[in-house]
Amino acid sequence: MSDASILFVDHTAMMGGAQHSLLDIAEANRRRCAVALFEDGPFATALGARGVAVLPLGGGSALRQVKKGSVVPGVRPLVATLRLARTLARAAKPFDLLYANSPKSFVVAALAGRLARKPVVWHLRDILGQGHFSRANVRAVVALANWCAVRVVANSRATADAFVAAGGRGSLVTIVHNGIDAAPFDALAPGTRTAVRAELGIPDDVFLVGCFSRLHPWKGQTVLLDAVARMPGVHALVVGGALFSGEAPYEAELRSRAQLPGFAGRVHMLGARDDVPRLLAACDIVVHASVLAEPFGRVLVEAMLARRPVVATDAGGVPEVVSDGETGVLVPPGDARALGEAIDALRRDPARVAALARRGADHARARFSRETMLAGVHRVILEVAS
Ligand code: UDP
Ligand code: GLC
Repeated sequence: MSDASILFVDHTAMMGGAQHSLLDIAEANRRRCAVALFEDGPFATALGARGVAVLPLGGGSALRQVKKGSVVPGVRPLVATLRLARTLARAAKPFDLLYANSPKSFVVAALAGRLARKPVVWHLRDILGQGHFSRANVRAVVALANWCAVRVVANSRATADAFVAAGGRGSLVTIVHNGIDAAPFDALAPGTRTAVRAELGIPDDVFLVGCFSRLHPWKGQTVLLDAVARMPGVHALVVGGALFSGEAPYEAELRSRAQLPGFAGRVHMLGARDDVPRLLAACDIVVHASVLAEPFGRVLVEAMLARRPVVATDAGGVPEVVSDGETGVLVPPGDARALGEAIDALRRDPARVAALARRGADHARARFSRETMLAGVHRVILEVAS
């Protein structure tokens, strides 16, 4: 992809959207890159399966103690961060640049970059300053970016704007939207919808609304259940697992709600799955219900590629991906009534569903291809390396 050799860095080895995206970027660079990880897990396995070298650095458990909401990190995590930065700086010696895929890994990479005298790129995939991080954490990471990053790659305009609003230097930022490989969607056999429904025990004539996100209050699955509770004929397919610490109680709450007699078995909770394209094909529409601003939302593009219209919440990067009335339907975040009305309107209008699906599929292919994303990252790497 480029002649520069790159050491990508991520703090987690769980498969969130950021890791799915880096998987494609690292694979495209695999002849001259490695991915340094602070823990072992499915991401390490997935990288290995795609022929990408993984450098397991350890240190993840100490970093986990740096809570997103904390004001000061505490002495142990601080010492651990410095130690990890030294380890990463040593690992970075043979590479031309460091490329961090998360705020935590960027902090370590920024310090390592100083020690090893390597340029550091930060791929920013979070909307800073909206509740996931304390103000002190945001100030610290933005100051580090202004001081140490040669480039900040933002996954949407909304993410870029939030970085600048938090004090980040606008001249550092390049927007590169996520892109998704269309091949698994092109490979879906015509009978997939019926076959998957048979596996799941969901009749063909049921209106099925899919929700594909890890289980976290931020992702708004409860809002979808509130909406579905009021629509007796509608079933919900809830796909995704509790990926990170602290998410388990939310999963338990959702699972017990799904069992309530009012739903009469209409909520199907599948947990985390690795066959998202065929599960999307089983749905009639897809709901993306984030109650906080979603930085990008890969699932939106995946739904469009599967020719399933999305009803999504109108915040963050979502309106950059989905145009209301054109390629999907946008509703206010956290509003179960509006969500329910949008679902119901689509249920009653198959011609509109088909039109949105067609335009969405064309739009996803034209604007959010994996190749376009890789070219955007490539340009940044070339500029930085030269
Ligand atoms: N995903 C998956 N299995 C699941 C649920 C989600 O593989 O059970 C994938 C999904 O297809 C998407 C990614 O996880 O590619 C989630 O990315 P997104 O940007 O939508 O959200 P994030 O979790 O990163 O905030
Ligand atoms: C993060 C964001 C998500 C985005 C993904 C890939 O996980 O939460 O919105 O799609 O990164 O950039």
